[in-house]
Amino acid sequence: MIFAENYFSFGRRYDNNMTKFASLFSPGKIGMLETKNRLVMPPMVLNYADEMGHVTPKYLAHIERVARGGVGIIVLEASFIRPDGRGFAKELGLHAEDAIPGLGQLVEAAHAQGAVIGTQLFHAGRQTSSKITGMQPIAPSPIPDSTINEMPRAISIEEIKDLIEAYSQAARRSKEAGFDFVEIHGAHGYLITQFLSPFSNTRDDEYGGSDEKRMRFAIEVVGAVREAVGSGFPVIFRISADEMVPNGLTLEDSANISKKLEELGVNAMHVSSGNYESFSRGYMIAPMSMPDGLEVPFAEWIKSSVGIPVIAVGKIRSPALADDIIRTGKADFIAIGRSLLADPDWPKKAQEGRMEQIRYCIACNEGCITRLLSDQDVWCTANPETSHEEEFAKSLPERELRVFIAGGGPAGMEAARIAALRGHRVVLVEERDHLGGALLLASMLPQRPGWSELRDYLVGEMKRLGITVRLGTTATAELAKKEGAEVAIVAIGASQYPPHIPGIKSKNVVLSRDLLDGSARISGEKVIVMGGGISGAQIADYLSRRGHDVTIVTAGREIAKESAVVVRELLLDRLQQRGVKILTGTRIIEITKDKVLIVGPGDSDDLPGELPADTVVASTGAKSNDGLADELRKVGKQVFIVGDAVKPRDVTHAMLEGARAGLF
Ligand SMILES: Cc1cc2nc3c(=O)[nH]c(=O)nc-3n(C[C@H](O)[C@H](O)[C@H](O)COP(=O)(O)O)c2cc1C
Ligand code: SF4
Repeated sequence: MIFAENYFSFGRRYDNNMTKFASLFSPGKIGMLETKNRLVMPPMVLNYADEMGHVTPKYLAHIERVARGGVGIIVLEASFIRPDGRGFAKELGLHAEDAIPGLGQLVEAAHAQGAVIGTQLFHAGRQTSSKITGMQPIAPSPIPDSTINEMPRAISIEEIKDLIEAYSQAARRSKEAGFDFVEIHGAHGYLITQFLSPFSNTRDDEYGGSDEKRMRFAIEVVGAVREAVGSGFPVIFRISADEMVPNGLTLEDSANISKKLEELGVNAMHVSSGNYESFSRGYMIAPMSMPDGLEVPFAEWIKSSVGIPVIAVGKIRSPALADDIIRTGKADFIAIGRSLLADPDWPKKAQEGRMEQIRYCIACNEGCITRLLSDQDVWCTANPETSHEEEFAKSLPERELRVFIAGGGPAGMEAARIAALRGHRVVLVEERDHLGGALLLASMLPQRPGWSELRDYLVGEMKRLGITVRLGTTATAELAKKEGAEVAIVAIGASQYPPHIPGIKSKNVVLSRDLLDGSARISGEKVIVMGGGISGAQIADYLSRRGHDVTIVTAGREIAKESAVVVRELLLDRLQQRGVKILTGTRIIEITKDKVLIVGPGDSDDLPGELPADTVVASTGAKSNDGLADELRKVGKQVFIVGDAVKPRDVTHAMLEGARAGLF
């Protein structure tokens, strides 16, 4: 395995110590509100509400599932206080009285498990678009956000007063629905941050022009919310301690703001960072290439400025790290967002010391935030149950079946895991001498440790659940018959096929797959990567880091376009820094022993050029391996085909299909 990287995930190394995480599981207090532990589910827009912003059965099933896993405090997603503040098409709303009954059901679900629950009062300001709200976005000043690129309308003082009233009404509705607290969303570049920050507020009236004036909107919102909910009701404020943009909020600014909010009676600070324009720096929703616990220093900084409790967040994935942060006084509560999407039972398992059973969030950002930002509902790549809780609540089968699974990649292992959990007898057959399939290949690249974490989890589950695994064995219909299989699941992935061009069989051409599994090597300095998908781009990243002179040639217009958000921006940044050349709209028409002939850009075939090449890495298409399915059907088996064996795609879909196949 030539690409194996040293990887150290901050905090994970303590996990095998059977500490009891006494700090993490000690009761906490926010204002007068007592909590059973220090774990918080931070707000995450799920896109599970209906068009009216009302709670749906799917939403309720998700919250019930999370609450059952033992988290102490649930902060519901950013919920719009007025329709013009909606940030996502299917976000929850706190804008109308008819939202209250549905919200009340969420409260009951949380309380039934001993968790406390609150809403997050939200207005997107300029960080939304007219496509979502049907209206021109509003903001303190007419400055567009560069990621949205839509000119907002600066609001008048009269409109500011109306907005403050809308925050107050949303808080009142939250209390009426039975919530235990409210959190004011003052972070991530939304409306309140837009007022607080000189980056987005250039007003010269009483709401802008000095630190005090920029703070006025937040202060008035806090005052109105407090009046609406009364003195004993906890109010939390979420802040981006460092906005990470030029002329944006700094740590000093945030400490001053936090002190002022404490004076006004805010009961806790929830400390995040960034806004939309600094999102690609990888802090706000950190990808796997960023270290664990990366925003904790911000929480620590705010904690040193105030006396009220502070909630830390940001890729805090391991119970040991979470416990350590509390024990050493860096923060009072720990928010674990994506970790709960990946495993809602994380709190319970940690408290019971079942560390090896925790399915860690691998920070791939694929199933969750990338789907959200493309207007889809939030899933989790590692945990297919998230978003499909109702489907996975299916009752157990009446009798045990014998299940034969061909293929030990993510789809095959997830199918085996679910089938075994449902009481079936499972045999999994893998042609290679190891499990992992596409996960193993993905984890061989730099900055991709999460994929091997998911592989390790699934392999661990094969052992824990007593699944019979036959390595180095080819799956055939005959073998399935011999095993007495009643159901067969085909999960044997896809094979890579290089394009039919002259010279493709030359010695200097290697397939990306062979490079990743260590069966092929690079020679010479000049490398051409043929294909601009995520795999090609990451191979270029790795090879340039090893000192090769790399050029990516792709017929497409962009590279790595199927990559998760943030992951792509950071990757493109690294490629640029290391001088990787990228030729888009360009095709390789021939390969010789020391060069490639190219045409393009675009459709112009008349100007073939050439590029020197010591090695050409073919990182092009794949074809499904589904032939076994027909054989199995012929011998009368009930057959499911899953993952890349249906169509080469991402791990997210492979995992979900595998899980669904195991759900009979
Ligand atoms: C899908 C998704 C939606 C999010 N929505 C919100 C939101 O509504 N309000 C908010 O303040 N933060 C939101 N966040 C940020 C999270 O609350 C949290 O700060 C972030 O995910 C980092 O924590 P983690 O590494 O534990 O996931 C969202 C994050 C994700 C992944
Ligand atoms: S999709 Fe990936 S990043 Fe998002 S919660 Fe699941 S494992 Fe974590």
